[in-house]
Formats: sequence, C-alpha cells, structure tokens
Amino acid sequence: MKRVWVAEDPVEVPTKTRVLDALLAGQCQVKMACGGKGLCATCHVYVEAGGEKLSPKTPREEAAIQMLVNKKPTSRLSCQAKVLGEGIKVRVPTGRYIESTVELESLVGRRAEGNILHPVTGIILVEEGKIITRSRILELSAVNVDVAEMKARSATLVPAS
Ligand code: FES
Repeated sequence: MKRVWVAEDPVEVPTKTRVLDALLAGQCQVKMACGGKGLCATCHVYVEAGGEKLSPKTPREEAAIQMLVNKKPTSRLSCQAKVLGEGIKVRVPTGRYIESTVELESLVGRRAEGNILHPVTGIILVEEGKIITRSRILELSAVNVDVAEMKARSATLVPAS
C-alpha cells in the first residue's frame, strides 16, 4: 500500500494504482471524459511532491498534456500516472469541466460559481463570477464538436496498461 496526498487528505492505495483511482477514493469529482485513455483534461492534476515516484509519462500522455493551456512542468494525467512510491501529493486544478454546453443550460442567468473549463484543453470557457448567458452558450458550441471528436478517438484506443 502507498499513501497519496490529494490536496491535504491522505488516501491509501495499492502500489501501481492509477492516481485517478486515488482521486476517486478521496471523493474527488473527476469527469474522465475520455474514459481514462489519456486524451482529455478532465483528470489533469498538478504533482506537488513525489513526481519521481510516479510511472513515467507515455507518449500519449505527453501529447495530451501539450494540448492543455493550464499545463505546468508538474502536470500529469491522473488516469495515466501510477503510484510507485510514497510521498506523492497532487492537486486538482480549480474549476469545473463540462462535457457539453447542455450542462450550462440550467445555469442561464446565474453567475458561474467557479471557472468552467474546456474538457480537452482546460481553457476557461466561463470565468468565475460571470453570468452565463444563452449567447455565451451558443458561442461555446465548438466544445460539443471537440468532445465528440475526442470520444470518437477514445473509442479506437485501448486504455494504457
Ligand atoms: S480521463 Fe481523459 S485523460 Fe484521463
């Protein structure tokens, strides 16, 4: 067993567990828009400690991270990174990912409680505090196309082992 810190909370997981599974065990909400295949931003984490105790990045993970606008040298995709040692601490980027603009329909006329993020690039679609309008939702319709393309690609891939 290894202990992973998700923000300030410790989570015990078996060795070689995906960081994603540690997040889920720690009650983190993770969308996993691509189904854990290393193609989206929705399981993106920043590794604050113990990065050398994670499995190395695969070419697929490297490529997906390059798409992220909010990437840092410490960025990992939690569905691809496996826990190999103690002392790993991760932090989830702030904000809420959407998979479809339909998710915003019920929020029209309200202020975003946090940043609303693109599920592939992590770009901020609606800033925290901004009012969500119908016209803004229409402007964001490309998100639905991006997600459809990502899911079609995901369907052709097997999960990284
Ligand atoms: S769930 Fe999509 S990259 Fe991890």
